[in-house]
Amino acid sequence: MTSRKLTPGRLVAATHNTGKVRELKDLFEPAGFEVVSAAELGLEEPAETEFTFEGNALIKARAACKATGAPALSDDSGLSVVSLGGQPGVFTADWAGEPRDFYKAMEKVERALQDVAATDRSAAFHCCLAVVWPDGHEEVFHGKVEGELVWPPRGERGFGFDPVFVAEGERETFGEMDPAKKHAMSHRADAVAKLKAALL
Ligand code: IMP
Repeated sequence: MTSRKLTPGRLVAATHNTGKVRELKDLFEPAGFEVVSAAELGLEEPAETEFTFEGNALIKARAACKATGAPALSDDSGLSVVSLGGQPGVFTADWAGEPRDFYKAMEKVERALQDVAATDRSAAFHCCLAVVWPDGHEEVFHGKVEGELVWPPRGERGFGFDPVFVAEGERETFGEMDPAKKHAMSHRADAVAKLKAALL
């Protein structure tokens, strides 16, 4: 286990995704962190050119750390669908097009499932958190939650693919669920718990 620690205080969240920022604030602020996003700081979004969650998380955290001179935290996450061979995976955000339209992205996944006449609707959300310090030290943490996809989408809470994802053992979608309940079981919560155990 690393001897590196994150001191509570200001933490730069290397993301422009408002849904992720809200969740990272909910997950880190109780531990004494003030989470400030790359968007709030006016930082540019680097191109995500890697083919793994870890690779892209490191690109984002390195860029924010370099731009601010402060330790930076990034989140690269996505949905992998078993009957689609793990797609959309690291390309989850890209399936929403430009400008991002997650209803369209959910429809695209549903159409792809219908195209392969999928009977297995199981899927998992993955989250990789990377922390990069100004001296070049890096740490990464992986989280996952398994579940299945429903159609049509349900619920106005959460973000991204939340309205079509039901976690194992649950009935509500993440879009219907109380955010505090999602934060107790999500892929992001899993990765945050590992990060806190190692770095706080
Ligand atoms: P990226 O990490 O910026 O490449 O984007 C990941 C994408 O995965 C997001 O834009 C969402 O569509 C999706 N995603 C990640 N985490 C969640 C979540 O907690 N709920 C719903 N969708 C998510």
